[in-house]
Amino acid sequence: MKKVITYGTFDLFHKGHYNILKRAKEYGDYLIVGVTGENYDIGRGKLSVHDNLATRIENVKNTGLVDEIIVEEYLGQKIGDIIKYDVDSFVIGNDWKGKFDHLSRYCNMIYLERTKGISSTQLREENFNQYNIGIICDIEDDNQIIKESKLVNGFNVKNIYCEDKKILEIFQEKYNVENVFNSYEDMIKKSDIIYVRCSIMKRYNYILQALKAGKHVIYDSPATFKSEEMKELIKLSKENNVILMENIKMVHIYVFNQLLWMTQGGLIGDILSFNCSISKNDESRSNLFYDLSTLSLLPMLKIMGQDYEKADLKVTKDGEEIEFASMNFVYPKGRAVINVGNKIRVGNQLEIIGTEGTIRMKDDWWRSKIFELHKPGTSDVELYNTNFEGNGFKYLIKAMSTMLNNNRIDSMGVFEDESLKIVEILEKINNIESK
Ligand code: CTP
Repeated sequence: MKKVITYGTFDLFHKGHYNILKRAKEYGDYLIVGVTGENYDIGRGKLSVHDNLATRIENVKNTGLVDEIIVEEYLGQKIGDIIKYDVDSFVIGNDWKGKFDHLSRYCNMIYLERTKGISSTQLREENFNQYNIGIICDIEDDNQIIKESKLVNGFNVKNIYCEDKKILEIFQEKYNVENVFNSYEDMIKKSDIIYVRCSIMKRYNYILQALKAGKHVIYDSPATFKSEEMKELIKLSKENNVILMENIKMVHIYVFNQLLWMTQGGLIGDILSFNCSISKNDESRSNLFYDLSTLSLLPMLKIMGQDYEKADLKVTKDGEEIEFASMNFVYPKGRAVINVGNKIRVGNQLEIIGTEGTIRMKDDWWRSKIFELHKPGTSDVELYNTNFEGNGFKYLIKAMSTMLNNNRIDSMGVFEDESLKIVEILEKINNIESK
């Protein structure tokens, strides 16, 4: 019996898929199809897949051409499959020409002509909503949103506005955005989603304006250090039924969610200590203190909770600007210490000590793709990691896409009460005198 194998995502099953399966079958007596698993697609940056795995398998099965269906779950699985299923021929469309030549050592490698004029990408573009993103910025750097949004179907940065014409010029030269606007109001009108990328001093007003116009907003976080303003933004987003989403990519990244699962689910026992330090060397941004504090306070609130008994906050200021802050929170069963260096550099690290294990993230932990788990009584270190290219903005946009599809406006990445609590802490810090 001659066995043939082929692979694909088979999203929005179409004529091209049917044709390749039919022709693949002609190369043998038994056809095996590997359908990509959801995590595998997400890991390789294919974030736009519409149909879930069960639907895609069902559609492949319904062709009546297939003898066996398997799930492709990781990079490098193909060689193992060829050996395991004793495959004679590997068939794939010629969009992959040359990419699988190394498999010819294991079986016949056959590239077939693709069916012209159809693809899942094209069907997704034709059949689903398209969202135009507009950026309002005071810095000539897009935080990779332009490149990363292209990876999520239906999302594209089309518009740009900067108050400072010089910055706008440099930005435009770098990224060549389709539409440049002379007024923020005009850009809002032409956008579905506004990305607010500017210093904390201006964020609140820009966000307010966009929400009032009924637009969804992604904003560099925090929006403000005044809790009344934060409450107002949340209220307005609800009234206008639009999404108000913090640009905190960490919460949309797989490995960070594993860390949360372990700590919140008691897998490292009772948490005794949460300790983190953060500073960034970024001369181009002013008032980074609040951004850095937000990145540190969020995991603390998620892991230790919001019911601390006492907060001891100390700051060092240079004029009005905070250079360094040390925040100590006493919880009923543990303690959290956060050190934030704005002008003053501190070594970046995050450590969570539980009665049954310690988790460590080193260096730029807020964008880390890896953490260590140290178990008591052993010197072994378990590593948990995830791999992806870029800074993870695509995962945040994907989360927004899911919310839009499900008609939800409440983000479960950063909960509303967490956003508010962070701003309340920042407000206190802002009001204390330098010590
Ligand atoms: N295929 C084909 N003809 C097409 C589209 C796909 O022969 N018009 C083949 C591919 O070459 C591959 C298999 O079908 O061997 C599964 O392809 P898949 O990537 O799932 O489909 P695409 O339509 O190419 O999806 P996308 O646009 O998301 O890349």
